[in-house]
Amino acid sequence: MSNTIAIVDFSKRGGQLVARLIRLQKVKALVTNQQGIKKLDVAGVVVIDGEIEKQGYPVLNISYDEIESFDFSNFLFNECKVQPNWDATTFVENEIKVIQKYVGDKEVLCALSGGVDSSVVAALLHKAIGNQLTAIFVDTGLLRENEAEFVETTFKDNFKVKLIVVDAKKDFFDALKGVSNPEAKRKIIGNLFIEVFEREAKKLKGIEFLAQGTLYTDILESVAIDSGEKVSIKSHHNVGGLPEKLNFKLVEPLKELFKDEVREVGKALGLSDKLVYRHPFPGPGLAVRCIGEVTPQRVETLRKVDAIFIDELYKADLYDKIWQSLATLLPVKSVGVKEGRRVFEEVCTIRAINSIDATEATIYPFDYQFLAKVSKRICSEVDQVSRVLYDITDKPPSTIEWE
Ligand code: XMP
Repeated sequence: MSNTIAIVDFSKRGGQLVARLIRLQKVKALVTNQQGIKKLDVAGVVVIDGEIEKQGYPVLNISYDEIESFDFSNFLFNECKVQPNWDATTFVENEIKVIQKYVGDKEVLCALSGGVDSSVVAALLHKAIGNQLTAIFVDTGLLRENEAEFVETTFKDNFKVKLIVVDAKKDFFDALKGVSNPEAKRKIIGNLFIEVFEREAKKLKGIEFLAQGTLYTDILESVAIDSGEKVSIKSHHNVGGLPEKLNFKLVEPLKELFKDEVREVGKALGLSDKLVYRHPFPGPGLAVRCIGEVTPQRVETLRKVDAIFIDELYKADLYDKIWQSLATLLPVKSVGVKEGRRVFEEVCTIRAINSIDATEATIYPFDYQFLAKVSKRICSEVDQVSRVLYDITDKPPSTIEWE
């Protein structure tokens, strides 16, 4: 018997929210259109601001205005008679079977970035097909402190995943030499990433599938972009999007999950809280946080600043109360005094925000003592920094990243 609820959203605004509210009741819900319902085996349909033809399943018509306070329980459990079984453990059990059936005895490749999504994909695939999975981690030189070691320890040592670590630091710094334009940086990094990945993939024989951490919001967003409702503001939002010419069949096991559900799946797979609850980190890494030119020296300076900031957030028990935190280096220098000597060094900023899905964000209200402590530590431990600024701008008007 079907346990899936379809949502047809004529308002084009409320579908995602209804899906989340229904999933909170442990029932699978997918946003689709009238044609889409036919392809799904549905137990019922929620229609927002419109009408559809009745086809024998229960239909609930609601307006937008009433979504947030609506109680879906009666419709779900009495009319559609669905079971509340949408949870991480059941998802993992089912998805393992789906992956095994789809992949058979063939080989699968995945790009591991160290972020939550690709980590969960790798752990899930490994559980489903073991050594038929090979993961590639590209060390771009633009990552946070100890990131490559962290990925190796987690996946090679603990999970025993076949992992290839590619040291491409020099390639990335060479390609970024003299480049300050944010979009140019993103394009160079995106293209080079694909090039390096492709080079490594070609060395492996017999790979038929590529696993990617596409999420449900990516699918909903691309649908919106297709219909001209949203425009892409920044290129290369994901390490995914590897080229079609690689000729792999795609495995996208998270494509029906929201981010919080991905985290739950990660926990069910035994990934650590430190990994599962990490703050988002952009694909182009520290390059888009080094405003101006990206040199190995500047990235190293920023990496130290970032590590101190994160360390202090953990120590003050603030890391998990914040949605995203970041540090940047500005393309200006400022005068300072260090150990009694005049210096003329880099200026960094720190930023912390809360958000639901990154489309809007509010600044985190740190107390002054905390900020002062972080600033003192950065200036005393990082020789190349002489001034620390705190970013007090919400999104909008400012984006979360500086570039
Ligand atoms: P903005 O700066 O647009 O960022 O407010 C919204 C969220 O997206 C992340 N972000 C990226 N993620 N590749 C990514 O994987 C990127 O190029 C990229 N740019 C921004 C950003 O960190 C924030 O969480």
